[in-house]
Amino acid sequence: MNQNKLNPNDDEMQPRVVLVDDDAAVRKATSQWLNLAGMRVLDYAGAREALSQLATESNVVVISDIKMPGMDGLEFAKRCNDIDPDLPVILITAHGDIRMAVRAMRDGAYDFIEKPIEPELLIDRIQRAWEKRQLVMENRKLKRIVNRGASLENRLLGRSPGIRQLRKQIVQLAETPVDTVINGATGTGKELVAQCLHEWSPRANSPFVAVNCGAIPEALFESELFGHEKGAFTGATAKRIGKIEHAAGGTLFLDEIESMPLNFQIKLLRVLQERKLERLGSNQQIDLDIWVIAATKVDLEQASASGDFREDLYYRFNVAELYIPSLADRRDDIPLLFEHYAQKAAYQFDRDYHQPTEEEIECLISYPWPGNVRQLKNIAKRYVLGVGPSRNIHTLLGQPSEQQPDTARTSNGLAERVQLFEAELITRSLRKHKGNISEVMQELELPRRTLNNKMSQYEIKRKDFVGSDLE
Ligand SMILES: Nc1ncnc2c1ncn2[C@@H]1O[C@H](COP(=O)(O)OP(=O)(O)OP(=O)(O)O)[C@@H](O)[C@H]1O
Ligand SMILES: [Mg+2]
Repeated sequence: MNQNKLNPNDDEMQPRVVLVDDDAAVRKATSQWLNLAGMRVLDYAGAREALSQLATESNVVVISDIKMPGMDGLEFAKRCNDIDPDLPVILITAHGDIRMAVRAMRDGAYDFIEKPIEPELLIDRIQRAWEKRQLVMENRKLKRIVNRGASLENRLLGRSPGIRQLRKQIVQLAETPVDTVINGATGTGKELVAQCLHEWSPRANSPFVAVNCGAIPEALFESELFGHEKGAFTGATAKRIGKIEHAAGGTLFLDEIESMPLNFQIKLLRVLQERKLERLGSNQQIDLDIWVIAATKVDLEQASASGDFREDLYYRFNVAELYIPSLADRRDDIPLLFEHYAQKAAYQFDRDYHQPTEEEIECLISYPWPGNVRQLKNIAKRYVLGVGPSRNIHTLLGQPSEQQPDTARTSNGLAERVQLFEAELITRSLRKHKGNISEVMQELELPRRTLNNKMSQYEIKRKDFVGSDLE
C-alpha cells in the first residue's frame, strides 16, 4: 500500500483518490497515471481495508474494481453509500456488462467505467466527481456555520448590531482558529466569548484552560505556565505539568494578558511561533497543538506603543481581534439581558417574576452600567430576590426613586436623552423593516433627508440591519 496520508489540509485543487483493486499490476499502473495527472492516490488491495479508512467527511473520490475476492465492488459501493450517501464511487465494470452497471448505480455508485480503462476518460470522470464532492463539502460547512450561528444566539444574548457581528465572527473564527485577542471593558463577556469560540470549534471536546495572568505572582509565572521537572529549582519537589501543556489539543485562555510580565511575554511569543514548549529544568521540547485566546481590558496597541506590552506579541494577536462593545454602547440589549437574567433568577430561587414597568425599563436603559453585563446580572437577581423598597429599580441602581432616571448618575441633559431616544426609535424601526429605508421613512413620518442626517449623526448604518445569513 502506498504510504502517503490523505491530509485534509492539502491543496483542495488536487483530487484525492482511494483506489481499490486486487490486481497489484493494475493498481500500480492506475496510480501512476493518476499521479502524473497531479492526483494523490491511496491504494488498497481489498474493499474491507479501504472501508476502514472512509468516514462521512472523507474528502476523496473512490474508484473500485467490481470482481474482487472477499467483498466485491457492488457490496463495497453499497457500504460506501451507507457511510456517506454523497461519497463519489466510480466502479470499473467488465466490457459490455450493462446489467451490472445499472445495478451498481442503483446501489449507490456514482459512475462506472468500462474496461479496458482509458486513462483520459478516467481522469476526466474523477475530476468531475471531485468537483461535485467539493461542492457537497462546502455546503455542509456552510450549513454547520448557519446552525451553530442560530444556537449561539441563546448563549451570547443580544440583538444589537455589535453583538450580531460578534456572533458571526465567532462562528467564522471557530472554523479556522488563529490566535485571537478579545477586547472589552470589565464584565462585557470576554470569558463567555472565549468559551463560545472554544465550544463552537472542532476542539470543543478537548480542554479549555483559563489562566488569569493578573492573579499569578511574577515569580511563579514560568512554572505555572510551563511546568517544571522535579528538582528544577529549590522547592520543586515533584514534576509539575504547566497550564499550557494542560491545554494540549484544546484551548488556552490567557485572561488579562496586559498584566503578563514583560520578560515572560517574549517566552510566550516563542511558544506561539514555534508551537513547542520546554518544562523548566528540561531540555526536551514538547510539541504543542493549542489554540491561544487572550483577553484584555486595555488598548493593546496603545500599551505596546508606550512600552507596557511587547509590540511583537501584540502583532501576533491582532490578526484576529474581537471587540465587545460596552453595554452603554448597545443600550438596545439592556431590556433583553435584564429580563433573561431576572427570569432565570426567578426560576432558580422559585420566586415570582414581575415584569418591570416601562418607566423602570427606561431607567435601566439610561443607566451607565460601568460594570456591564455582570453588574446587570446582579441587579436583575437582586430585583427578583428583593423585598419592599429593594425591589425598586431606582433603589437598586442607587437612585432616589422619585428622581427621573439617570440625572443622579450621568450628566445626560434633556437634549442628550432626547437624542438617545430618537436613535433608539430609528434603530428599532430599521430592525423591524430589515433596513428598508422607505418603510422606515413611512413609519416614522420622516423625509429621507432628515432620516439620513439623523442616521449619520447617530452613526446608525443601514447595512447592519439588512437580513443576515445567521439570523
Ligand atoms: N451577551 C451576553 N449574553 C449573556 N450573558 C452574558 C453576555 N455577556 C456577558 N454575559 C454574562 O455576564 C457575566 C460576565 O461575563 P464575563 O465573565 O465573560 O465577562 P468578562 O469580560 O470576562 O469580565 P472581566 O473583565 O471582569 O473579567 C457572565 O456571567 C456572563 O455569562
Ligand atoms: Mg473575565
